[in-house]
Amino acid sequence: AEHGFLPDGPPLTRLPNPYYEAWESIASELPTLIQTRQIRQKIDELPVCSTEHLATEAEWRRAYVIMGYFTHGYVWGGDKPQDHLPPSIAKPYLEIATHLELPACATYAGLTLWNYKLTHPEADITDPENLQVQTSFTGTRDEEWFMVISVAVEAQGSKLISLMRDAMKAVAANDTELLTALLYSFADGLNNLAIVLRKMYTHNDPAVFYHQLRPFLAGSKNMAHAGLPRGVYYDTGDDAERPGSWMQLSGGSNAQSSLIQTLDIFLGITHSATDGKKASGPAFIHEMRNYMPGPHRRFLENLTAGSTVRDFILSSGEQSSEREAYNAAVTELKNFRDTHIQMVTRYIVMTSRKTIPAQESGKVNLATASTQESQSGQQHSLSGTGGTDLMPFLKQTRDTVRDAKC
Ligand code: ALA
Repeated sequence: AEHGFLPDGPPLTRLPNPYYEAWESIASELPTLIQTRQIRQKIDELPVCSTEHLATEAEWRRAYVIMGYFTHGYVWGGDKPQDHLPPSIAKPYLEIATHLELPACATYAGLTLWNYKLTHPEADITDPENLQVQTSFTGTRDEEWFMVISVAVEAQGSKLISLMRDAMKAVAANDTELLTALLYSFADGLNNLAIVLRKMYTHNDPAVFYHQLRPFLAGSKNMAHAGLPRGVYYDTGDDAERPGSWMQLSGGSNAQSSLIQTLDIFLGITHSATDGKKASGPAFIHEMRNYMPGPHRRFLENLTAGSTVRDFILSSGEQSSEREAYNAAVTELKNFRDTHIQMVTRYIVMTSRKTIPAQESGKVNLATASTQESQSGQQHSLSGTGGTDLMPFLKQTRDTVRDAKC
C-alpha cells in the first residue's frame, strides 16, 4: 500500500560483495564500453561468476539489473546484433532470473523499478527531477529521464493502491456514498498519473530516444528482420543442470508495468477483443505478466479474482452517482492512454519517418530494429519493442477502455 510495485526502499546501488567487483566495474562504464565497441570483448573476458554470493533479495535484484544491461548491450552493441550470449552472462543470468521468477532479458523491473536512486534521501519520489538511474546504456540525460518518468508514475500510482482496496471494501459493505467518493479520488489520481507522464517531453529528446536508446530495448522475439532469426542462444558452458538453449524473448514494454494492468483490473476492464491482425492485443497483455516479478504477477491474479467494482456498478441504477463516478474514472484512464498514444506518435512514429535507412549493405540499422521494413526500405508497419503492432495495439487497448463506460 505504501510503495506500490517499487521496492520498499531505493534499490541497492552496488553489490556489496567484492566478488562481484568485475560486474560493477563494467556496469559503471557501460555507456563508454558500448560507444567504443568494447562491450562484447569485455564480457567475453569476464569470468563465469557464481550466484552463491548474492545474499539478499535486494542483491538478487541489483544482479538482475546488471545482467539485463549486459545482455542487451552485448546483443545490440555492435553494427550487427550478436545472437550468442557467452556463459559469463548466460549462466548467472538464468539463475538470477529463475530466483526472481522473471525472464532473462531487460524487463520493466530490471530497467526501471529496480534501477533508480533518489538525489537525496528525503526527496519526493513522485517528482522525476529527484530521480536518477543507476545503470544506463547511453549515459544520456534523455535515457535517464525516460526511465525515471516511469519510476515517478509508479510512485504516484502507489497512492491508488489503498484507494482501490478501500473501494472494494465499500462494495462489500454496500456503501455507495463512500464508493462514489473513492472512485472520484481514483479518477483524480489517474489524472495525476497523466501529469507525471507528460513530463517526459522535458528532458527526453525524441531523436535521442529513438536512435540511441530504443535499439537497446529491443528483444529477441520475432526479430528475424533485425538479424536474430532464432532469437538468442544462451550458452551456459558446461552446466549440465541447465544446458544452453535458444530463447526468444520480448523487449522492454510498459505492458510489463503491474501498476498499469492493476488499473484495468480494478475497473473490471478486460482486453478481450482482437484487432484481427496478429494476436498482439489481449494475448500480449496477458503474456507480459510473465515478464513481471512473481509476487507482482500473483497480485494481479488475486486482484482479478477479487475485483468486484464493475459488477456492482452494472447492477446499480443507470443514473446513480456511483455509476457517474465509475465513468469518470474510465474517462481518465482513457485520457491517460491517449496521452501515451500522443507520446508514442511523437517519439516513435514521427521520428521513424525521419530515419535514413542504413546505406552500407549487410549492416543492420539498429534504430529500426523494432520496425518491420520491406526490402526497399519502405516502412510498412511499426512494432513496439515488446513486439506488438504498435499503433493498432495501442488504439485497440485505448478503445477497450473507452467502451467500458456504462
Ligand atoms: N515499448 C517502447 C517502444 O516501443 C519502449 O519504443
